[in-house]
Amino acid sequence: MTLKERLLAVMDRKHHWAYPRLTRAGLTREQLLVHFRHEYLVYVRDFPALLGRALGVTPPLEDVRSALAEILYEEQTGGLSHTAAHPALFLRMMAGLGLHAAEFVDDDAWLHPAALRYRDALRERSASLPWQAAVALLTIFVEGSVNERAELAGTYARRRGEDAVGEHPLVKFYGCPPEAMDLTRAHAEVEGEHRRDAWRIVLEHADDATGEARAVASTCEQALTMWHAYRDGVAERMGL
Ligand SMILES: [Fe+2]
Repeated sequence: MTLKERLLAVMDRKHHWAYPRLTRAGLTREQLLVHFRHEYLVYVRDFPALLGRALGVTPPLEDVRSALAEILYEEQTGGLSHTAAHPALFLRMMAGLGLHAAEFVDDDAWLHPAALRYRDALRERSASLPWQAAVALLTIFVEGSVNERAELAGTYARRRGEDAVGEHPLVKFYGCPPEAMDLTRAHAEVEGEHRRDAWRIVLEHADDATGEARAVASTCEQALTMWHAYRDGVAERMGL
């Protein structure tokens, strides 16, 4: 199987049974907080720093380093989408739900053990060789979704701008004001190109059947297993 096919097979399974509950009405404030606080502390807050770790193990390949630097710049500053740092935009969206920044302070003891395992693995693997696996883990697995296959095939149309905001479940069902949704605007603006860059970098630099390709695939497969355990843990805490 080609590396692309193995990675797409991973992304096809990046779906969790509790997801539909998150995209419709009916969750309490407490359930929303459990979900979003996990997301924030597990990977949202530190995503730019994790990218920095991966950049740090990348060899002097100009195109790879500059593509990663561009993604990192947007994530940590919002400079390309003219918004703000994505972790800060996430907290702004939370404030729109009435969940305040003080509720998102670090607390290892509070996180579900499976969430801690996934988070710790992200920290470790993002700074490990081969660099292709570190980059794939963050830019394909963490940033990507179950829509990856359709997106690469050009059959999945990403919603843009105010259309993306208006259709967002937090706006539709949970009363989040559209003004608080710059994270969605930023993603709608830059994400398509960053997704293409991510796939190009990994597939150009990890030839099928090489040790690097095997490491990329197995790193993402292991991440998927840990991610499912993490999502199971959050669903359990939410009482779903
Ligand atoms: Fe982002």
